[in-house]
Amino acid sequence: MHSFSYVDGTLRCEGVELNEIANRFGTPAYVYSAATIRGNYQRLDTALAPLDHLVCYAVKANSNLAVLNLLAKLDSGFDIVSGGELFRVLKAGGRADRCTFAGVGKTREEIAFALKEGVYSFNVESEGELARINDVAGSLGMKAPIAIRVNPDVDAKTHKFISTGKSKNKFGIGIDRAAEVYQVAANLPHLKIRGVQTHIGSQILESGPFAEAAAKLAALVQDLKKSYDIEFFDFGGGIGIVYDDALSSGSPAWWDGQGSSRRITPEDYAAAIIPVLKPLGLRILFEPGRFLVGNAGALLSTVQYVKQTPAKTFTIIDAAMNDLIRPALYEGWHEIVPLRQSSADKIAMDVVGPVCESGDFFAQDRPLPPLQPDDRIAVLSSGAYGFVMSSNYNSRPLLPEILVDGDKMHLARERQSMDDLVRGESIPQ
Ligand code: LLP
Repeated sequence: MHSFSYVDGTLRCEGVELNEIANRFGTPAYVYSAATIRGNYQRLDTALAPLDHLVCYAVKANSNLAVLNLLAKLDSGFDIVSGGELFRVLKAGGRADRCTFAGVGKTREEIAFALKEGVYSFNVESEGELARINDVAGSLGMKAPIAIRVNPDVDAKTHKFISTGKSKNKFGIGIDRAAEVYQVAANLPHLKIRGVQTHIGSQILESGPFAEAAAKLAALVQDLKKSYDIEFFDFGGGIGIVYDDALSSGSPAWWDGQGSSRRITPEDYAAAIIPVLKPLGLRILFEPGRFLVGNAGALLSTVQYVKQTPAKTFTIIDAAMNDLIRPALYEGWHEIVPLRQSSADKIAMDVVGPVCESGDFFAQDRPLPPLQPDDRIAVLSSGAYGFVMSSNYNSRPLLPEILVDGDKMHLARERQSMDDLVRGESIPQ
């Protein structure tokens, strides 16, 4: 589901014209649709209804307080990977006892913070971490609830930078060693074994790898249940979304990826895993990030220059790789559309930012309607891993984030000022 469409030739997010947002808050800017996030959450939640389940939104995908608050109101749990993410969840009205704390490098301070706030579980990635959590819990006179992240050695068939479930990745404990490491955990006095966790990667568009991981893990969980008081199994995130041809294929068919060669729906996902996970008789946790927010976001930008070279047409826009790094880092493909619908013949162009790197592009050799300086465009499906991965590179202020809900818009984050750029810096006297 998504909520971006042309009405009378101009692009809207729900009931709001994107031009109006650009006029009011300037460009570049991120826009998010509340209806899309709610719709995605509800559709996934419904597909998983046959399981006793908890959706724990992966905060790393988009951690704006307004987005977290919207999900907290839907009763979502949260998958967090840092003290900072826990802080955000609590500020946004989320509950610590619905948070799982993942990540390979938790510091003592983060562990203590999460323990005091009462997180549901630490998803532990190494024996060193088990020892450390035991230690911190002991010093606080507490028992820490834990799950071990088990790496099932499954090929997620996704980009190599976002594949995590192969034995060569840095994540989790290999499935062949899992029983042994649970035994280590059981012998540590300040730990309470609560569950088992896995996550095989991100932007996965086939149900096969999910089914394979579920089967491998289910067998392990059945074994572990005989010796330990296992309460939950956390299946991680990774459901992929459709990035291509969002508007040209129309809504809502596009959301189901019709016309796209690789796609997965929440129902496909559920059908692949429920038969394997239901017999476990446990609470099943899910950690979707991209699926909930990816298609809910657009990056608005204004064309600055059109530069013609003998080889190419470069359309230079006011957004850059520091605002959305997915094309540069993962060869991510994002649909680009003009805010004013055009029927002109398309021409191939590179859409690039002003940053001094050849990797600063949004599209290469992409057929798009001809664009002129001051035309506005939207880079679609940028609600996940967009703003959260942005930086101040080239001393560019971080962008504003606007949440649209029906015909209302809310400035969920202000644009940084020039003063923000140098805040905290000083020159020696
Ligand atoms: N759980 C764990 C343990 C994870 O590491 C991740 C994502 C998720 C859940 C959520 O995965 P999702 O449902 O969003 O696929 N920046 C990259 C994606 C990095 C994913 C990192 N881990 C991108 O822009 O494609």
